[in-house]
Amino acid sequence: MATALCPGSFDPVTLGHLDIIERTARHFDMVVIAVIRNPQKAQSLFTLEERQEMLGEVTAHIPNVRIEFFKGLVVDFARDHGAEAIVKGLRAISDFDYELQMAQMNQRLSGIDTFFISTSPQHSFLSSSLVREVARFGGDVSSMVPPLVAKRLVERYKMAEGAK
Ligand code: PNS
Repeated sequence: MATALCPGSFDPVTLGHLDIIERTARHFDMVVIAVIRNPQKAQSLFTLEERQEMLGEVTAHIPNVRIEFFKGLVVDFARDHGAEAIVKGLRAISDFDYELQMAQMNQRLSGIDTFFISTSPQHSFLSSSLVREVARFGGDVSSMVPPLVAKRLVERYKMAEGAK
């Protein structure tokens, strides 16, 4: 069974992520969405459980997807789960340098290949961090994330405002 890994922090999942996951699921028997437990980035907006729950709901229509958490090296997790490929979306040339470096390092460490899928043009500017920033200042993110994620973002920032 050909298994692919789609790793990331998914804080929160965007329509860009979903597009890559859906397209990966057409090419592999099983797609494991690997949510990193220990991102190098600053504090996450959503807890791991919240991110898992949102991912679960927005991928519920894809039968060959499952969601797992990981910490440490992505290739160790891939090996432990019998994944033979890592799949990443490439939004723009600015993603390329870093993604290529990671793909080559991961290949050297484990022999596991990384496959790149070109992001659909309508999502090429999308990132979780920009979505968070827009939502934080009250901007409309409804065309960038699934409806339930948009709702959760509004609630989360309202809560944060209320706590001030
Ligand atoms: O959604 P993100 O934050 O861009 O995802 C980055 C992620 C989690 C895919 C990347 O940081 C990662 O693979 N981290 C795990 C540690 C690791 O294996 N690093 C790569 C060594 S080349």
